[in-house]
Amino acid sequence: MRAPVTDLPIVLEDVSFSAGGVTILDRISLVLVAGSPTVLIGPNGAGKTTLLRLVMGLIAPTRGRVTWGGREQASPTHRAIVFQRPAMLRRSAAGNIRYALAAAGVPRARRAAHALALGALVGLTGLERRPARKLSGGEQQRLALARALAKEPQLLLLDEPTASLDPAATKAIEDVIRKVAASGIKVVMSTHDLGEAKRLAGEIVLVHRGRVIESGAAETFFAAPKTIEARRFIAGELLV
Ligand SMILES: Nc1ncnc2c1ncn2[C@@H]1O[C@H](COP(=O)(O)OP(=O)(O)O)[C@@H](O)[C@H]1O
Ligand SMILES: [Mg+2]
Repeated sequence: MRAPVTDLPIVLEDVSFSAGGVTILDRISLVLVAGSPTVLIGPNGAGKTTLLRLVMGLIAPTRGRVTWGGREQASPTHRAIVFQRPAMLRRSAAGNIRYALAAAGVPRARRAAHALALGALVGLTGLERRPARKLSGGEQQRLALARALAKEPQLLLLDEPTASLDPAATKAIEDVIRKVAASGIKVVMSTHDLGEAKRLAGEIVLVHRGRVIESGAAETFFAAPKTIEARRFIAGELLV
C-alpha cells in the first residue's frame, strides 16, 4: 500500500519573489504544518496575496525554494485557493459547485447530491437554484468556498475571505472556516483584520514590506509580541 501523499509540511526556504525589478517577497523562510489555521496578517501591499500564490504553486520563487511534503513541484490536486473577488460562472449556485466537482473528476451521477451537501456545508441551502451572480457578496464568497472544497483539498488557501463584508456575512464565512479547519483541512488565509486573525488563527505570520516580521503561535503573538512592528500592529497603529 502506498503512503498517502500529503502536501504538508510546506516549507519555504529563503524565498524571494521579484517582478518588474521590484522585490515583492524578500527572503522568506516559513514552515506551514498541519493543524489550526495559519493567518497571514499585514497591511495592504505587504505581500500576503503574493505569498499565498507562491504557497499554491501559481508562481515560482525567483530565489530560494518551496517544497510540499518534501517534494518540489507537487501537483496542486490537494490544494485549493479562493481569491479575494472570486469569479462566478453564469450558472446557478449548484451549477457552479457541480462544475467544480466535474473539474475534480467526480462522476456525473454523484455530482448533484454532492453539490447539495457542499452547499449545505457552507450554509447555502435554499439558494442552490439562484443565479450565482445574483447572490450577495458573502453568499458568493461561501459559494467560492464550496467550489474550492469540491477538490477535497488537504490545504485551503483563502485570500482575505471577508474583505468588505458586513459583520453577519463575516461571521457566516468564519463559521465555515472553523468547520473546514475542524475537519482536518489545513487553512492558510490572509486578512488585514486583526479581530479576524484573533478569532481564527492558531498561528500568525506578520508580513510587512515583503518580509516575515514575526511568526508563531497566535496566543503568544498577541500576548507577547517580540517585534516593534507586531506591537504596533496589535495596538492598531498603521504600519507604513
Ligand atoms: N506581478 C506583479 N508585478 C509588480 N508588482 C506586483 C506584482 N504583484 C504584486 N505586486 C506588488 O507587490 C506588493 C505586494 O502585493 P500583494 O501581495 O498583493 O500584497 P497584499 O496582498 O499584502 O496587499 C504590492 O506593492 C503590489 O503592487
Ligand atoms: Mg492581497
